[in-house]
Amino acid sequence: MQAKVMEITNNTLSELKGINDSQALEQLRVRVLGKKGELTSILRGMGQVAPEMRPMVGQWVNEARATIENAIAEAQSAIQKKEKEKRLEKEAIDVTLPVNERSAGSLHPMTMVLEELLDIFTGMGFEAVEGPEVEYDHYNFELMNIPKNHPARDAQDTFYVDDNIVLRTHTSPVQARIMTTRKPPIRIVSFGRVYRADEADATHSPVFHQLEGLVIDENISMGDLKGTLDTFARRLYGDGVTTRFRPSFFPFTEPSAEVDLTCAACRGKGCRICKDTGWIEVLGSGMVNPKVLEMCGIDSKKYSGFAFGMGVERLCNLKYNVPDMRYLYENDIRFLKHFRG
Ligand code: DAH
Repeated sequence: MQAKVMEITNNTLSELKGINDSQALEQLRVRVLGKKGELTSILRGMGQVAPEMRPMVGQWVNEARATIENAIAEAQSAIQKKEKEKRLEKEAIDVTLPVNERSAGSLHPMTMVLEELLDIFTGMGFEAVEGPEVEYDHYNFELMNIPKNHPARDAQDTFYVDDNIVLRTHTSPVQARIMTTRKPPIRIVSFGRVYRADEADATHSPVFHQLEGLVIDENISMGDLKGTLDTFARRLYGDGVTTRFRPSFFPFTEPSAEVDLTCAACRGKGCRICKDTGWIEVLGSGMVNPKVLEMCGIDSKKYSGFAFGMGVERLCNLKYNVPDMRYLYENDIRFLKHFRG
């Protein structure tokens, strides 16, 4: 009997050495120590053992059980340690590996310029308003003092929807919409798309953007216009950039002026961009024609006003050194990437 218990003990201990996963270990434990296990069955067979021998046999079995239990517990903690190490190894993160660069999006340069322009003008007390892109001929031309057969209609190659409706050729009709619905004082800017039947090239596009300004109050003079545009030029392009007014003609302003800004690229010294003149033409402006005021229901004896309109792509490209207007529309990611903040 003793030999049998020792055999079970030794066999179990040597089998333990070859085991290196928890599942096999548990199987061995059940086979030897379980209810129907090898060692337990000796206790069950106690009936056949002579009564005086029973305490001895019981002691052998209990000692063997304790030895085996200890060995199993030891083996178990060794296996668990190994398994944990393996798991940690698998979960390990190599913090020295190069990371994949997350590419952040960016605002489109036109959006950036628009936001800046609106900031500049609202900062001077202008209210930003919008008007429709599909516009009545009445607002786009008639109220802007460009009657049918007026030669100025040819200058702006118009997309007609029908006889009375056009794709607006400028943002000036927003002036008429505001003047016919509000009373002075008026101080608005309007930004948006305009349409002209032009071939696309480096400086033209059939769709582009304008920013329009209108101020109407008592005693508004050309000096107010000049002061406003000087401030705008300085805020957009920095100190040292100023305006130059040249006499011009627009049907809706009298007198009218085309306005140049100091070339932002060379600060007026002369370069390729300003064709060595030091100036860049960026906008049209003038004192609102009294005829326009009257047509829109504003008393031209009491009130006067100034207005201006500018091409925003131009301002944007000067600001960001973009040589061709088409870059702004093609949405080529290689171009847009340059504007990531
Ligand atoms: N509407 C003109 C154009 O598209 C630009 C312009 C000139 C607007 C003079 C004005 C202005 O408000 O006073 O060419």
